[in-house]
Amino acid sequence: MLVGIETSDDAGVFQVSDTLALVETVDIITPMVDDPYAFGQIAAANAISDVYAMGGQPLTALNICCFPAHTAELDVLRSIVLGGLDKIREAGAVLIGGHTVRDDELKYGLAVSGIAHPKSFVSNAGAQWTDRLVLTKPIGTGVLINAFRKGKLVGAAFDRAVRQMTTLNDRACAAMLEAGVHACTDVSGFGLAGHAMEMARASRVRLRVNVDDVPHYDEALDLLSSVQGTRSRETTADYCCEPDITPAREALLFDPQTSGGLLISVARTQADRLIERLHEAGITDACIIGEVFDLGPPGLEIGRGQS
Ligand code: CO
Ligand code: CO
Repeated sequence: MLVGIETSDDAGVFQVSDTLALVETVDIITPMVDDPYAFGQIAAANAISDVYAMGGQPLTALNICCFPAHTAELDVLRSIVLGGLDKIREAGAVLIGGHTVRDDELKYGLAVSGIAHPKSFVSNAGAQWTDRLVLTKPIGTGVLINAFRKGKLVGAAFDRAVRQMTTLNDRACAAMLEAGVHACTDVSGFGLAGHAMEMARASRVRLRVNVDDVPHYDEALDLLSSVQGTRSRETTADYCCEPDITPAREALLFDPQTSGGLLISVARTQADRLIERLHEAGITDACIIGEVFDLGPPGLEIGRGQS
């Protein structure tokens, strides 16, 4: 076993031979959009993303369907599975089976197996001092989903968010492998800040994220700013947020993402090259959002200004 559960990494990695390692992960989620086909796409992209976050190549997938017996119509369930299948194919993988259980709450997702070289997969534990941090998708989809569920505005922004969530991290992964990077994780349920803290702990370094540089949905920030917010976390040895940053900006960093982008730690000298590659690959939101500014104690600092 090369990567187990200790480092809160995205997927497990198991060495099969000198040149082959298995990258294995599973993820299921509840619907966040009305369109069942789009939900299937998002759930699959979200599950497959954990293989890309390890620098792996997805090979096979198993459907996991928790479908209510009564409410959902057969068409709806078929559309969900079809959305998932299309994403599995787009990732160059094959669906080789699955399992369906009756459940009151509809859920769908995949167990995904991929491969990587045992020496060149990317964990979240390799970030090094002076590295630059790169993020490949804007954050704020959680806020937009919540607003959508409550029937608030968000037309165009929500459509953009859905497009981002259905987008595989395959090209981001390819660019990262080409540039050569030190660490990676994908941004999901714990938000950008939560996953950055996991990377900091696993790599035993201190990270600094500059809020002004983080790509995000303006509409999500507006929604967060419209309610009176309080600090997301108190200052501790492993977390601090500069006082001039508003609670809304801080909250955005903790917004849970579904099928979020890759958070990559890359050598300072390679950072511009990586950004160039990502932009060439059409990932135009990708940018440098911070740096590894110190060694221990592990933690995250939220600031503003130049990285
Ligand atoms: Co992940
Ligand atoms: Co996951």
